[in-house]
Amino acid sequence: MDTEHHAPLRYTVAILSRGDAAARRDATPQNSRFVRVFEALAAIGIDARPAIYDESFADAVCDQLLAVDGVLVWVDPIHQGRTREALDPLLRDIAARGPWVSAHPDVILKIGVKDVLYRTRHLGWGADVHRYDSAAAFRAEFPSRLLADSPRVLKQNRGNGGQGVWKIEALSHAETMVRVLHAQRGSRPEDIPFDVLVARCEPYFGWGGCIIDQAFQPRLPDGMIRCYMSGSHVAGFGHQLIKALIPPPPEGPDSPAAQPGPRIMHGPDARQFQALRRLMENEWTPQMMATLGLDEPSLPVIWDADFLYGTRDAAGADTYVLCEINASSCFAIPDDAPAAIARTVKRRLLQIPAAG
Ligand SMILES: Nc1ncnc2c1ncn2[C@@H]1O[C@H](COP(=O)(O)OP(=O)(O)O)[C@@H](O)[C@H]1O
Ligand SMILES: [Mg+2]
Repeated sequence: MDTEHHAPLRYTVAILSRGDAAARRDATPQNSRFVRVFEALAAIGIDARPAIYDESFADAVCDQLLAVDGVLVWVDPIHQGRTREALDPLLRDIAARGPWVSAHPDVILKIGVKDVLYRTRHLGWGADVHRYDSAAAFRAEFPSRLLADSPRVLKQNRGNGGQGVWKIEALSHAETMVRVLHAQRGSRPEDIPFDVLVARCEPYFGWGGCIIDQAFQPRLPDGMIRCYMSGSHVAGFGHQLIKALIPPPPEGPDSPAAQPGPRIMHGPDARQFQALRRLMENEWTPQMMATLGLDEPSLPVIWDADFLYGTRDAAGADTYVLCEINASSCFAIPDDAPAAIARTVKRRLLQIPAAG
């Protein structure tokens, strides 16, 4: 009898995250922050192992990744001053040589950058958004937009953790001055000449970078709704009262009142988010895919869309404005998400031939 034909397919995947040599040596599924993901993968018969990455031992990581069927990546664009400049080419190379990679760096470059706000500004989640491709364009075009509609929010194309996100307000008494507030934790508002702002933004244009200019959303104090996605399905929600771009209280930027609140997690069926879920699954995600030229299998196994509340509609109902998409390192995740990730991983792996 042809037993080989009936043997269950056995897939192996690596979960890639940053760490030093000691972390690489000691990493196990059990001591990993992704322990629930490892468990969910094991529960459906997928063998998953940690792969700790650092630039200093990239060759060893490369060898490890070439031996698996799939690679799940959780690495921020900026982490303690390091970028993905070396990691992304490595992942592209791995993906070209066989293993499936989520999220693929080319997919991150479409959805996980602030430019997605510009390219999808015509969707229902869009706000008033502009893009500047050079410091000269920024200098020429931004001041009139600021004067017409202050405040504005500027975002470098590729950042995280509030790095390179600025709230800019016009100052009526001094035309050449602006009030700026950086979104990074501990920042205070400053009044600076516009030329100083341009100089601060200049580095964001390096390496083909750009700046995205988005209308400030006044319902920011009502919090951020993070919609967790696995492929094209909603995997849960998180609601958080954030503090970034809200001026710190007088006690100072490190006071408890300046800290963000906890993110309250909800499953995909949470009643209060069903309108948003329908919009994400039925309209905005398919429309984004069409706009950016992405197919369903290239959507990451876990990603999130962060929404701010827009102005209420005529009937008084909430509206949602896309603030950013995180596709590089979406974590922590709701309780239901590991199982959703495992199901998506299995679907993806079944689409490619098993190794070995
Ligand atoms: N258009 C906006 N209106 C009001 N606040 C914003 C806006 N865009 C961003 N913010 C605030 O700035 C923070 C950081 O911006 P975000 O786009 O999430 O970038 P990142 O998290 O990559 O640094 C958000 O969490 C939110 O507090
Ligand atoms: Mg953010």
